[in-house]
Amino acid sequence: MISAAYDSLASEYDDLLGDLAEATWRNGILAELARLGAGAGTVVIDLGAGTGTGGKLIGDAGWSHRRIGVDRSARMLRSAAGRYEATIVADITAVPAGASCADFIVSGFDTLNYLSPGQFRQCLGAAARCLKLGGWLVFDYSSPGLLRGTWRDLRYDQQLPDGILRWRHHYDSAAARSVSSIERHDAGGNVTWRETHVQYALDAYPLHEAAAAAGLRTERVRDLDRPEFSPSASTHVWVLRKG
Ligand SMILES: C[S@@+](CC[C@H](N)C(=O)[O-])C[C@H]1O[C@@H](n2cnc3c(N)ncnc32)[C@H](O)[C@@H]1O
Repeated sequence: MISAAYDSLASEYDDLLGDLAEATWRNGILAELARLGAGAGTVVIDLGAGTGTGGKLIGDAGWSHRRIGVDRSARMLRSAAGRYEATIVADITAVPAGASCADFIVSGFDTLNYLSPGQFRQCLGAAARCLKLGGWLVFDYSSPGLLRGTWRDLRYDQQLPDGILRWRHHYDSAAARSVSSIERHDAGGNVTWRETHVQYALDAYPLHEAAAAAGLRTERVRDLDRPEFSPSASTHVWVLRKG
């Protein structure tokens, strides 16, 4: 049976993807938060918080930020409970927080790629409303090059101690989106669950324009693993500022 995105994956997410998610956070959002600096009491909202990779790392950094995790999957957020001061089950296209309440809004491990261009614009608008003047939106984002190129038609198996995770990526040109399916096989080869995820990637200039329309200035965009920007990188890190 194909279940709603992330509901099946939730119980195994940290084991299967936790290391990769942490590495992405450390090279991307964490590095930017350290660069931008902020004092105790800083309010950080994590969009698509999942099991709380970001909440845990921000807590471990010892910055004493007040962390709020938002995700539409209650199953994912259940594991995140101890990693945020508050968690909210909600859709991130309508960030459920007060106006001008947040110093930082972050979104890690390609979460904003799950939004269609229209939803992405809604999310930017909602984030801009919640940010204080001068506040920052920092996120990593899989590139169009990854979705349209590397993932155009890619199949591989991730070996696990007790089975495999079978990945399939396909780019649907007509719908301008990438469709990924994950199938979990146990040691006996039986499929224990499968999920399908749909992702989008705006090109850099339309993304910059969408940010500007929401009142967010592009302060920085770089490759995940270096300070410069190149279109061919798999993941970019975006740093936007309100006002
Ligand atoms: C790739 S996971 C990343 C989780 C976490 N940020 C991390 O770094 O490990 C994407 C998360 O985004 C959530 N998500 C996707 N679209 C969403 C939406 N429109 N509203 C709220 N959450 C969403 C999923 O439920 C999932 O937990």
